[in-house]
Amino acid sequence: MSSLSELLLNVGESRTMALSALIKKLRAEGNDVLSFTAGEPDFDTPEFIKKAAIKAIHGNFTRYTANEGSPELLKAIIEKFSKDNDLHFEQKNILVSSGAKHAIYNVLMALCNPGDEVIYQSPYWVSYPEMVKLAGARSVTIETHAEQNFKITPDLLEKAITPKTKVFLFNTPSNPTGAVYSKEEILALAEVLKKKDIFIVSDEIYEKIVFDNEKHFAIGSIEELRDKTITINGVSKAYAMTGWRIGYAAGNENVIRLARNLQSHSTSNACSISQAATVAALTQHSEEIEKMVVSFQKRRDFIVEELNRIDGIHCPLPKGAFYIFFDVGKFYGKTTNHTTIFDSSSFCDYLLKEELVGLVPGIAFGNDNCVRMSYACSYEEIFAGITRIKRAVKKLV
Ligand SMILES: Cc1ncc(COP(=O)(O)O)c(C=O)c1O
Repeated sequence: MSSLSELLLNVGESRTMALSALIKKLRAEGNDVLSFTAGEPDFDTPEFIKKAAIKAIHGNFTRYTANEGSPELLKAIIEKFSKDNDLHFEQKNILVSSGAKHAIYNVLMALCNPGDEVIYQSPYWVSYPEMVKLAGARSVTIETHAEQNFKITPDLLEKAITPKTKVFLFNTPSNPTGAVYSKEEILALAEVLKKKDIFIVSDEIYEKIVFDNEKHFAIGSIEELRDKTITINGVSKAYAMTGWRIGYAAGNENVIRLARNLQSHSTSNACSISQAATVAALTQHSEEIEKMVVSFQKRRDFIVEELNRIDGIHCPLPKGAFYIFFDVGKFYGKTTNHTTIFDSSSFCDYLLKEELVGLVPGIAFGNDNCVRMSYACSYEEIFAGITRIKRAVKKLV
């Protein structure tokens, strides 16, 4: 057989997706697995959004739309950005894709050349390194730690920039850490970015899920950065619409044009029915979204308090998204009669085998001392999960 693509042989499977598949298999075999691996809200898509989709089907809105998205959706996105983010676009600045993941991929492909460097912080979302590879570029990561609330400083950013830097990939609120950058912190980073000839890709998919009166601030709204920022957003997280696959990119017309061209030859338009549902999501106010956020915040408070009671676990307070990223390094070197814990993967394997609890190893996000626990699940599951985690770590000596 002739050889396969070297580029793709070098790209790994998404570890979070692989883990979700393993947990589904264990459940199908009859195991009572408690999974905290999900990157999706446990709520159902709100009724008014589903109704808009059903109406689209009955109205035969079932054909190809324009590659970049239907005019109704482009209009809704333009209005959303103007209302929520002080970002002002025309239709030529927008591309609707099949999820924010797809939007980021299209944009990185439009921006990067071989040898270019893409800077982002670590811990990072699992797909960034592989997408950067697919775009032919090289990742440069800036390490962050719990003591600094997993945030970079202007100084660290400046040091990471080289003549080869093409993109600063920014994510607030962040997956996996739940870090939320304040407006002041973003303005300080902007002082560095204003002086450099680099693009900013700002992944704002968790924009709506922020706690403790934190406010999301869009870096692209800073005057000097408007033309070099591509803002990414979508409906997966805020509207519990992960399966509908709608995300979008907005910014510099030339970048969007290339991203549109790529999409036109690969996937074409995002699903027409999902686009109609997204128009409803973005244009009709609903209290359900706020209720989801209140519920996430309560769960976060509960888990952080409970986890910090466990000897050996250190858990900072995340300000957004629906994940807890906590340090389990104190258990490394500990054993039970059949297992030794030596990294985040062996810790998660142990929890899964011993107590049927699924967490994601931090190494998937570039940090091998931590694990990620999603709290997009019920109180009962959280309560039972914490009890099992306590029991499992007590057995380690
Ligand atoms: C940081 C981040 N960006 C982008 C995405 C992609 O979201 P989607 O493709 O579902 O819109 C995710 C999903 O987990 C994410 O965590």
